[in-house]
Amino acid sequence: MLNAAAAERNKEPILAVLRESVNTGRSLQALEISSGTGQHVTHFAQALRNIVWQPSEFDRQSLASIEAYRAHYQQHNVRPAIHLDASLPYQYWGGIQPESLDLLVNINMIHISPMACTEGLFKGAGAVLKPQGLLLTYGPYAVNGQITPQSNIDFDYSLRQRNSEWGLRDIALLSSTAQSYGLFLEKMVDMPANNKCLLFRKESLV
Ligand SMILES: C[S@@+](CC[C@H](N)C(=O)[O-])C[C@H]1O[C@@H](n2cnc3c(N)ncnc32)[C@H](O)[C@@H]1O
Repeated sequence: MLNAAAAERNKEPILAVLRESVNTGRSLQALEISSGTGQHVTHFAQALRNIVWQPSEFDRQSLASIEAYRAHYQQHNVRPAIHLDASLPYQYWGGIQPESLDLLVNINMIHISPMACTEGLFKGAGAVLKPQGLLLTYGPYAVNGQITPQSNIDFDYSLRQRNSEWGLRDIALLSSTAQSYGLFLEKMVDMPANNKCLLFRKESLV
């Protein structure tokens, strides 16, 4: 059971956004992409029991941690974690079916992975979400080409030093990427520590 300090800090504020954004009165299916340690999915599943959660990870060590959380908490609404590379087409996402999900959650991945992962995330979301399904992303972002405050500018710089394909993405770019796959940016929520939650809704066919 790995422990990420950031996940411990942000899991409750993100849960508060989920509570406001999802229906708590009927059975829902959710996928988390890049579940990390498993702290988020465990926390959300405990609070939102009407949702069946599918955790996933790219990193094998993290998959083992998610399984350790699952074994510890014995939650009936958390499925065994699957290996998932967000940059691949959804057909490689461990059997996730088209239009099968009400909710997709992705926390702190977009800026710490190549743009191909973000592209894959939105493309896959467009395919696997039901009409009116929701994609929630969380992290630090640029707004209209500006990164604020200085701590996020420094963070962006350090990410790009580590990997030239990483870095904070602009919300306008995410919004237009989302639109190409049938999702629209419905809401932005300011979060502690200069992060944001972005809520993208899958459009219904008319
Ligand atoms: C900063 S961690 C965030 C983990 C977790 N969501 C959290 O907030 O604690 C970034 C995550 O992105 C995942 N990641 C990197 N490349 C990925 C890919 N191609 N597909 C899916 N996840 C990926 C990493 O394995 C890692 O767990």
